[in-house]
Amino acid sequence: VGTSLQDIIGHAKEYGFVFPSSEIYDGLQAVYDYGQNGVELKNNLKNAWWKAMTQLHDSIVGIDAAIFMHPLTWKASGHVDGFNDPMIDNKDSKKRYRADQLLEGKAEQYAAEGNPEQGQALLTEMGRLLSAEDLAGVRELIIAEGIKCPVSGTANWTEVRQFNLMFSTQIGSVAEDANMIYLRPETAQGIFVNFLNVQKSGRMKVPFGIAQIGKAFRNEIVARQFIFRMREFEQMEMQFFVRPGTEMTWYEAWKETRMKFHKSIGLPAEKLKYHDHDKLAHYANAAVDIEYEFPFGFREIEGIHSRTDFDLRNHQELSKKKQQYFDADLDENGKPYGNYIPYVVETSVGADRLFLAAFCNAYTRETTGEGDSLKERTYLKLHPALAPFKAAVLPLVKKDGLAEKAQAIAASLKSSFRTVYDDGAAIGKRYTRQDLIGTPFCIAVDYQTMEDDTVTIRYRDTMEQERVSISELKEKIGYAVSV
Ligand code: GAP
Repeated sequence: VGTSLQDIIGHAKEYGFVFPSSEIYDGLQAVYDYGQNGVELKNNLKNAWWKAMTQLHDSIVGIDAAIFMHPLTWKASGHVDGFNDPMIDNKDSKKRYRADQLLEGKAEQYAAEGNPEQGQALLTEMGRLLSAEDLAGVRELIIAEGIKCPVSGTANWTEVRQFNLMFSTQIGSVAEDANMIYLRPETAQGIFVNFLNVQKSGRMKVPFGIAQIGKAFRNEIVARQFIFRMREFEQMEMQFFVRPGTEMTWYEAWKETRMKFHKSIGLPAEKLKYHDHDKLAHYANAAVDIEYEFPFGFREIEGIHSRTDFDLRNHQELSKKKQQYFDADLDENGKPYGNYIPYVVETSVGADRLFLAAFCNAYTRETTGEGDSLKERTYLKLHPALAPFKAAVLPLVKKDGLAEKAQAIAASLKSSFRTVYDDGAAIGKRYTRQDLIGTPFCIAVDYQTMEDDTVTIRYRDTMEQERVSISELKEKIGYAVSV
């Protein structure tokens, strides 16, 4: 059965995964809250990433830098001058659009009409105008292409303006310009400014990496597609510091490693692909996206960028503090490589986008049975490591000591993994509840349990049941729930 984004949004809300933020006040655009099950799924994703980065790599360590940073950080990183989206307003509807997205929409329309070359030509022309910062040219292109506002239906456009995506606020009590600071638009800069702190205190040798998970903020003009593009979101970034000249080898290696990670958490190979950038960000000399096929098409979930020494060099210039590393390894002439500013290969994935990918992939509707007993079943086919609850313990009935027995089993499993006890309704209904939130294992306690200490495990995806001894549960489930 086909799945729409509306199905996903509805399910996420109904079963406690994602709620619109401040919903009682009709919500805040492009801001969302994670509910009781969502926070577990998101934490499980973050833990899987953290483990893959820091536990499984000897040469990567983590940090947790502040969201607020010295304002010069964003001058050095290029975000003050370059982190802009070109926007255009329709004079009739007063609606604001991203000029590049209007043109991309037109290019998609050409492709859908069987004219992909014309679409590509349009994108190339747009790229040329944007790199030349020819905003008047971008406006002319929009008009020449006859692009109309979907709300007013007119092509009465304002000029195109650059709109900086960083949120700013005041630090301290005096509202002077000097006190203006930004909410970080990427977590990466917290890593760059701590490069030498970590390198020295950890006696790290290049190549090595620093990983971080944290909030980032962008005042996105066009905020749509649920948690895909948010104004407050979470990034999981890793900067890998390498010797200049070796960056392309590391770039290729990280491309592969990161693709493997996405497969390891259950995203299927056919729904993942690489997409090379036509237009490089201001800091990169090579860049690729890993895309996932959402209900609205293939879209970026992770970016892998070769950032050269752009960031460290600019920080060195603005802070007047050397950002160099002394490499004692010997080159081909037997001399130490000596001092240099390392190059950086970055991997950057949005925790919320990865959440959306995992959630969309897990959401399954299928029909079971035949004839009169034909039923539709909805469940979340989450990798057991990602599921909010790993196991549910369900007594067949509450009486005759079954409830107490089931509670004791749940209590014994809880210290190893998240387990829920439920005696609330008919057993079939309780299985369905667990299916809907993706619990991979349901453990039923029945009269036979009272005699021989065995239970049935019901498997979420196949609905098959297996009789096992209580003493086997911890190992059996524990094995399945690790990535
Ligand atoms: N440090 C590099 C960097 O920030 P990016 O491609 O702008 O690169 C990296 O962002 C990742 O962060 C994206 O692949 C995406 O998963 C996530 N991301 C970026 N903007 C986002 C937004 N507005 N909402 C949710 N996730 C976002």
